[in-house]
Amino acid sequence: SGLNALATAAGKLYFGSATDNPELTDTTYTSYLNNSQHFGQLTPGNSMKWDATEPEPNTFTFTEGDQIANLAKSNGQILRAHNLVWYSQLPDWVTSNNYNATGLTEVIQNHIANVAGHYKGQPYAWDVVNEPLNDNGSFRSDVFYDTLGESYIPIALNATRAADPNVKLYINDYNIEYTGAKATAMQNLVKSLQADGVPIDGIGMESHFIVGEVPTTLVENFQAFADLGVEIAITELDIRMTLPETDALLEQQKQDFYNVVDACLQVSACKGITVWDWTDKYSWIPSTFPGEGAATPFDDNYEEKPAFDGIVEALMGQ
Ligand code: G3I
Repeated sequence: SGLNALATAAGKLYFGSATDNPELTDTTYTSYLNNSQHFGQLTPGNSMKWDATEPEPNTFTFTEGDQIANLAKSNGQILRAHNLVWYSQLPDWVTSNNYNATGLTEVIQNHIANVAGHYKGQPYAWDVVNEPLNDNGSFRSDVFYDTLGESYIPIALNATRAADPNVKLYINDYNIEYTGAKATAMQNLVKSLQADGVPIDGIGMESHFIVGEVPTTLVENFQAFADLGVEIAITELDIRMTLPETDALLEQQKQDFYNVVDACLQVSACKGITVWDWTDKYSWIPSTFPGEGAATPFDDNYEEKPAFDGIVEALMGQ
């Protein structure tokens, strides 16, 4: 009765986790991670990003990405590949070479042909474009948008489809989990891609939430995406709190995890749920938000927290 076993019994494709290469030397961690009853899907937290895979122009390194792809394969787990085009974790050469539109198009196409081509047939989905929007719904200013305008998005989606014809093509972002300007802008982006005949299969809802502040419009918003004919997934779930942990915060966090998982269960287009690592020991939160943490369902010692029970209860329909 692990989390993935319960999720698949409830009709979802998977319950999974992000992981990262340095953690894989921790055998207590991997003994749980590798059990597909618990986790039916893995996402590499860093090792398939541009800085990891193409640190110098047209020089590709897949050692670390392969480690996680191979781990998923040997464990019988689905792979979500992450990510191809993102403003962050870009090597300096992409931003500092002052490519013109033609040059940057070739750079994007070559990156994707090689990276998505290398993993062809392995991932269920690629996060092709990551975090393209600002919170007000406008396009994020970055080297891709500033050089190519919105056209970088079809360029990336088409290149990925060409490199791996069967992989699901996702755009992934945060603050689109609930209704509002950013979710509306993402829906408009989906509509415009569809109108132009550009392949788009899914939208990733990152879901980096705060205890006690989980949005109340998840279901109606997920359904609005589903109504466009795309699937969705909860791709990077964690729910952080201001430390120290208290019993009240942990109980609220249990309810919050319950609500997010339940929202995915209520919308058939929501294919699966990925936590952005499953133990507080390896969560990205404390290094990015000093004074906050405890954002995952297991504590630093791999003990189940009330949040774990909240996930189980939601998956069991209780
Ligand atoms: O690789 C270097 C290493 O050589 C160096 O010794 C070390 C010193 O700090 O840094 C290492 O790089 C770190 C990298 O993770 C790999 O561990 C970076 O400093 C650190 O900033 C980076 O953080 C990652 C973050 O993305 C960067 O934006 C997190 O691990 C990763 O979990 C996080 O994931 C993102 C998703 O991709 C997109 N959505 C948001 C999510 C959370 O930020």
